[in-house]
Amino acid sequence: MTELEISQNRDAFRALCREHIRRDGLERLLEYLDTTDFYTAPSSSMYHLNEDGGLCLHSMNVFHAAMKLYESLGREVLASGGGPFRGEISAESIAVSTLFHDLCKMNIYHKTERWKKDETGRWVSYPGYEVKDELPLGHGEKSCYIVRGFIKLQRDELLAIRWHMGMFDMGDSGSSLIRSFRNALEQSPLVSLVHSADFLASNLMEVTQKYK
Ligand SMILES: [Fe+2]
Ligand SMILES: [Fe+2]
Repeated sequence: MTELEISQNRDAFRALCREHIRRDGLERLLEYLDTTDFYTAPSSSMYHLNEDGGLCLHSMNVFHAAMKLYESLGREVLASGGGPFRGEISAESIAVSTLFHDLCKMNIYHKTERWKKDETGRWVSYPGYEVKDELPLGHGEKSCYIVRGFIKLQRDELLAIRWHMGMFDMGDSGSSLIRSFRNALEQSPLVSLVHSADFLASNLMEVTQKYK
């Protein structure tokens, strides 16, 4: 991603926040993001949008995916009460729980030189990222903690951010986490909406750079 694209994405991200989120502390959170690498960091060290600027773009992709899923499917189902939930999800809740869902990835990816053998068996270097997390709280948990330091979160937003990775963040601890995830799914439709949007953005909308 070019510097110009990164700067345009920063403008677009801030505009989305200000358009949809009316919550005390938002401006302080945006000021804080400027002191981090949020706008220049990759979204992943090896997978989707593993390039400079990937994290901000991914966050916006998840927002747009969630809004489209809600408008095309969720709104009608929730209005009819045909599923387990009835009601509405606000654009503000979707914005809060998508645009900030991966703040846990700020300041953890550091550029490094990686090595591999080329076709002729010669060692060649290629650019990559290594992960150093100074606040290893967990993935969604850490995002909740960071966001909550600036703005209040509703229970369903907390649950949606905490569980946005769904079954992909179960680690070795097994069944108790799976039960908690299922429980979260049963508490709010925002949980499955944000998880689905994150999954679609990561796997359908975003490319992985293959450094060769
Ligand atoms: Fe994530
Ligand atoms: Fe994500």
